[in-house]
Amino acid sequence: MDPPNTVEDLGRLKSRLSANEKRVLIALDSVGGRSDPEAVVEKGGFKVMAEVMSAANWLADKGLVVVDEKGHLVVGLDEEGRHHAIEGLPERRAIGLLNEKGGQGTMQDLTSSGVLEKHEVPITLGWLKRKGWAEISKEDGQTVLTLSGSGEPAPGMDEILLAMLAKGERPVDALDAEAYQGLRGRKGILKEREVNERSLALTSLGKQVLESGLELKEEIVQLTSELLATGKWRDRDIRPYDVTAYAPSATGGKPHPLSTLIEEIREVFIEMGFEEIATNYVESAFWNMDALFIPQDHPAREMQDTFYLAHPERFSLDDGMVKRIAAVHEHGGETGSTGWGGTFSKETAEKALLRTHTTVGTIRYLHDHPDDPCKVFSLGRVFRNETMDATHLPEFHQIEGIIKEPGANFRMLVGVLREFYRRMGFPKVRIRPGYFPYTEPSMEVDVFYNGKWMELGGSGIFRPEVTEPLGVKDPVCAWGLGLERLAMMRFGLTDIRDIYVSDVDWLRDAPLHFE
Ligand code: PHE
Repeated sequence: MDPPNTVEDLGRLKSRLSANEKRVLIALDSVGGRSDPEAVVEKGGFKVMAEVMSAANWLADKGLVVVDEKGHLVVGLDEEGRHHAIEGLPERRAIGLLNEKGGQGTMQDLTSSGVLEKHEVPITLGWLKRKGWAEISKEDGQTVLTLSGSGEPAPGMDEILLAMLAKGERPVDALDAEAYQGLRGRKGILKEREVNERSLALTSLGKQVLESGLELKEEIVQLTSELLATGKWRDRDIRPYDVTAYAPSATGGKPHPLSTLIEEIREVFIEMGFEEIATNYVESAFWNMDALFIPQDHPAREMQDTFYLAHPERFSLDDGMVKRIAAVHEHGGETGSTGWGGTFSKETAEKALLRTHTTVGTIRYLHDHPDDPCKVFSLGRVFRNETMDATHLPEFHQIEGIIKEPGANFRMLVGVLREFYRRMGFPKVRIRPGYFPYTEPSMEVDVFYNGKWMELGGSGIFRPEVTEPLGVKDPVCAWGLGLERLAMMRFGLTDIRDIYVSDVDWLRDAPLHFE
């Protein structure tokens, strides 16, 4: 935060301090402006450390306090050390025994007395000698110890340290270095560990705030009906609401943005008077292609574009329908068209596949409902054996629909598509001439986004080669639009694959509704 440069800034900063923050500042000031948090807990009359640390962190955020944490080494007693602290170091115990024996004794005496354990004896001899507490000699093959001097040596620095550590851990740097190194060299006496020590210090801004005077009033954090009814709120400060304060964001469950978009599209069509129809993924080549007057040798029917299925491998088709469609393909049937020529293969038509467009659902619907005028749409997944890249997916969704009524025409089709995109938030739509084997005229629909035109789908009016064999008399306006490209534009993505990577951060941050 920038330091305040006016009295007003300082006032605003102070008004943002909570009661606990003020208490921490005052307590810290009273202990000289820098201390460990424990002293602040005590001085400030806090109940728990967490109150101080939480307030201190907020103060740090506001630039009034520095919270410092540094690691250092502390020493305490290990198991052996605790034992020695009670019983005395082994050399001290040996002195006691030798005194009882009149100032002299053998090594045998030391072990049999129980004052020393066997493993302690060699070390004890070493320390007695080193400290000059006893002379060691050999007599008749026996090791004899004779006390030197008064026989009552004063406690050494190591013994003082041992007693001190018996009361609790101490930081390494606070200890007598020689005594510490001495005890450290002996096995099992000391135990070291790293601890983090926190310290709080007032910054110059913190001092400035204190100098300008802090008033500690009881503070209302939450207004209650009681405070209002009794009028007590008048005597207290109400803590200002800080909308800039950090708070963890709550990430609840929500629909995937794509689901939300699909729902929105559905609503737009329903609002425009359309009815949704249910369609299938698995279809025959007959309905997916032949009924749409797609020639049987069309390159898109090849394996590299269409996923043909092994189970089921084929569909059994209605002979009457096959005959009618075959006639249209071979010579135009009753439609006045010349057809594609050649011989229609029923076998090719029977093949089962994953639908390559949702238009197949529309055709099925027209077959089942040839007579009545209708406005229907469908939303669904389609499958194409395509290489994935930034704008292509092998599996994607189409937004499909038709208008069938006596007066249906091209202007109507353009109007409906423009209106659909306008309602979806894309007012700039471009219609270009296009080609599909099943429509005439045919057009491509582009939408302007991010400085360029995005190709979003195809549409047109079904050819007589399509409608006549189904018994449909009225003109049919039809369209099939890409959903994922629309989603990319809506979500502000530049790579279509990002819609499906399920990046959790992106999903969490995604608004419930993209504008
Ligand atoms: N089926 C076409 C496609 O998948 C789109 C389309 C639908 C074109 C209906 C014209 C009429 O691209």
